[in-house]
Amino acid sequence: MTKTFPDDFLWGGALAANQVEGAYLTDGKGLSTSDVMPNGVFGPVRERTPGDFSIKDVAIDFYHRYPEDIALFAEMGFSCLRVSIAWSRIFPQGDEQEPNEAGLAWYDKLFDELARHNIQPMVTLSHYEMPWGLVENYGGWGNRKVIAFFEHYARTVFSRYRDKVKLWLTFNEINMSLHAPMTGVGLPEDSSRAAVYQAIHHQLVASGLAVKACHELIPDARIGNMLLGGLTYPLSCKPEDVFATLQDNRSWLFFGDVQCRGAYPGYMQRYFREQDISLQITPEDLAALRHTVDFISFSYYMTGCVTADPALVEKLRGNILDMVPNPHLASSEWGWQIDPLGLRTLLNTLWDRYQKPLFIVENGLGANDQPAADGQIHDDYRISYLNDHLVQVREAIDDGVELMGYTSWGPIDLISASKAEVGKRYGFIHVDLNQDGSGTLNRSRKDSFWWYQQVIKTHGASLKG
Ligand code: BG6
Repeated sequence: MTKTFPDDFLWGGALAANQVEGAYLTDGKGLSTSDVMPNGVFGPVRERTPGDFSIKDVAIDFYHRYPEDIALFAEMGFSCLRVSIAWSRIFPQGDEQEPNEAGLAWYDKLFDELARHNIQPMVTLSHYEMPWGLVENYGGWGNRKVIAFFEHYARTVFSRYRDKVKLWLTFNEINMSLHAPMTGVGLPEDSSRAAVYQAIHHQLVASGLAVKACHELIPDARIGNMLLGGLTYPLSCKPEDVFATLQDNRSWLFFGDVQCRGAYPGYMQRYFREQDISLQITPEDLAALRHTVDFISFSYYMTGCVTADPALVEKLRGNILDMVPNPHLASSEWGWQIDPLGLRTLLNTLWDRYQKPLFIVENGLGANDQPAADGQIHDDYRISYLNDHLVQVREAIDDGVELMGYTSWGPIDLISASKAEVGKRYGFIHVDLNQDGSGTLNRSRKDSFWWYQQVIKTHGASLKG
């Protein structure tokens, strides 16, 4: 019997404002942390001067071209599009009382266009950016006052879009702050662990308050968290490696534990004690944390390995998160190890741990696509990556995992996050753009466009394997 996905399964793609919109100062928008990090999410921060250039300033010009792009998504059969709101379009400095009407109006147009095509928006409140003013004037999430600014922003957009948006996410890859503190919590890269965890604490409190506000203001909406699904395996079956892996996985599952269970887990209390970290936590904070998310969303690109032997770590480590590579897996051009079965393991792990519905909100292959002699992009490598992952997703559903949907990362080429590269492309739709900003910005369909269209149309029956 051919296995298919449920009829109400949401299919689509995922974008982030700072990687697609461009128009970085248009209609009253303020500078964001992303705008002052032209080399990507790991920095450095650069002061902006009049006339200087960052590829993200224009990006793929989604701000002006969204109707054309949404029509292409609709042609593929999307029922869901994940986007983010640029906080600095709504509150340019971050601490204003009154929102910027022009920023609000633009997202109204975006959501209306989606509705015209029967595509449901899923909106991330903060995807790797915050108003730069909150970093310069307040010290980012290190300052408790930012919680109230965020809550005000969240309440503003919930009230405004209450009839248009029923799926919300709080902070993108909230665990990334441990690796990229400026992008995650607006703190300098060399901040102490104690400072980063205090800022993370403020963000977790803000996340709880956003969940509460969403439930109050839009009772029929659902709001989730968003984790970087950083699953790791033991490099060997030595008990020491197995335990080190458990601890490694807890370093990111901790965020899910707080957001799904409403309190700090015991193993983190021990970690803080041993690291001499004492967080400032008020009784009001603890009450805010008890507002747990309705569902769990996550990104999945790769897995890594863990060994308890520091010499081996030093010798073997690679990729952006410094994970030890798995000798049994192949890698992408960017060294990200390809592991479709790992996605089934991760889905089962999260389901077993939390028993809350899951949503895969990012997955995909970044590749340096080159047009063939016929001028087209024949991205069979992307098709095979996505096919193999989706086969495992279908298996996980069969395992009993409750999964709401799948939005592949970057359904249209965009600016990659790690290093702000144009050449690392994820799309089903090609964008004619070069790193120096040249190019027509014309959109064209890759082979994967037709492949994904077929997968959606057949509810996954067309998948191979
Ligand atoms: C996730 C982010 O980390 O991975 C996205 O949420 C990002 O913003 C994606 O683009 C892929 O990473 P990269 O560096 O290849 O763009």
